[in-house]
Amino acid sequence: MQADMKSGHALRCIACGTEFERAGAEFRCPRCGDLLEVVYPAWAASEAQTLVWASRLKQTWWERKLSRHGEDASGVWRFRELLPHLPDRGGIITLREGNTPVFELPRCARSAGVDLLLAKHQGMNPTGSFKDTGMTVAISRARQEGFSWVACASTGNTSASMAAYAAHGGLRSLVLIPQGKIAWGKLSQALDYGALTCQLRTDFDGCLRILTELVRRHPIYLLNSINPYRLEGQKTAALELLEQLDWQLPDHVIVPGGNLGNCSALGKGLEELRALGVIEFLPKLSVIQAEGANALVRTLRETGGQRLVLVQAETAATAIRIGNPVSWKKAVRVLQSTGGRCEQVSESEIAIAKAEIGSDGVGCEPASAVTLAGLKKLVRQGFVHHHERVVLILTGHLLKDTEYTLKFHRRELLPEIAEDERRRLDPYRRAPLEVEPNVESVLRVLEEAEKTHAAE
Ligand code: F0G
Repeated sequence: MQADMKSGHALRCIACGTEFERAGAEFRCPRCGDLLEVVYPAWAASEAQTLVWASRLKQTWWERKLSRHGEDASGVWRFRELLPHLPDRGGIITLREGNTPVFELPRCARSAGVDLLLAKHQGMNPTGSFKDTGMTVAISRARQEGFSWVACASTGNTSASMAAYAAHGGLRSLVLIPQGKIAWGKLSQALDYGALTCQLRTDFDGCLRILTELVRRHPIYLLNSINPYRLEGQKTAALELLEQLDWQLPDHVIVPGGNLGNCSALGKGLEELRALGVIEFLPKLSVIQAEGANALVRTLRETGGQRLVLVQAETAATAIRIGNPVSWKKAVRVLQSTGGRCEQVSESEIAIAKAEIGSDGVGCEPASAVTLAGLKKLVRQGFVHHHERVVLILTGHLLKDTEYTLKFHRRELLPEIAEDERRRLDPYRRAPLEVEPNVESVLRVLEEAEKTHAAE
């Protein structure tokens, strides 16, 4: 089939290479059933133009920061040369996503054993997670294709993001979530933004199976990360990061892995920048999973990345409680092309890392903290050296999952872990104190705290 030259992009199957103008309801290749990716034949068709673009892109993207125009104000659409064009550009649904900060994490750097540690905080997006960067692209397409309903299965953040963008763009949204396994912050967002929210007595993988069947039987637009337009938006975080670093490449970028869409998206963004001549090398992109949801780790160790090893996922980092990750093949490809590693971390390592990121005044949700826990492992393995520049991608805001944080500080988190492991968590806990309501009592607490601080 012919590429959609008008919009400058085509959809291509990652396995058999067949190109399509439009995707079916499930976003899978109708020939072999594998995943689709967005490609831009126009870039290859005109090499001379590509070279001109490469020299002008950085300048254009930078200049747009001065504009308050709708598209330019979005940290995603600012990079629109690398996105599929929409037939009606005015019809973009945007909440000014992207534009997220890069912070230094000095305490975490010391604890991990590196000289400089940076974090790009994708939790500073409008709904508090990186999902917004992909949602603006995919949901704008849904509306232009004439859909009035959109849907996703979710561990919480996708549903919050989808519900917000649907509401903002005048669409209706259907959310399928695993009952009792998503953080309250995320659930309350979906409710407030008006999503039709169904809690199913199954896990994320079960919700996604049901949704895949549903979109075959009902005209509803699928917004999980199997939708390749989501990943196009998410890849702009890599572009924005490099721009924030004045195009001085970091040595390592570390990202959490759940359904594996985000690492695939960031890797795609980096590869495209290299193909366009904007950067010369690729940073190593490493993916970290929770031990209890380690499908990619096992896939690489047990099959060399040839065949997906399914797992029955269990982790208190509920955002990445996924055992059958859809984008595993794309993730394997990105690990191979960038030379990154895939590691797993334990529940107590995640809890400590989360408290450490908090103690740098930044904070994040549990799934994001796997990046710091993973970095510590990669340093111990000698894969990351102390003088190398490392960027953690923090995917969700601290306030998404306050229950986890409170339980941790009150010693109620992970009741099943061994006593010696529990003791390792204690120095990081800061439970609230019960104090009599008078100045003397508060002063005593303050003096005690000063003594302990001085002793440290
Ligand atoms: N971090 C957070 C905070 C997430 O919400 C997710 C995924 C991930 C990391 C993993 O990203 O799936 O692209 O590998 N959350 C999805 C959801 C599954 O439904 O909100 P991934």
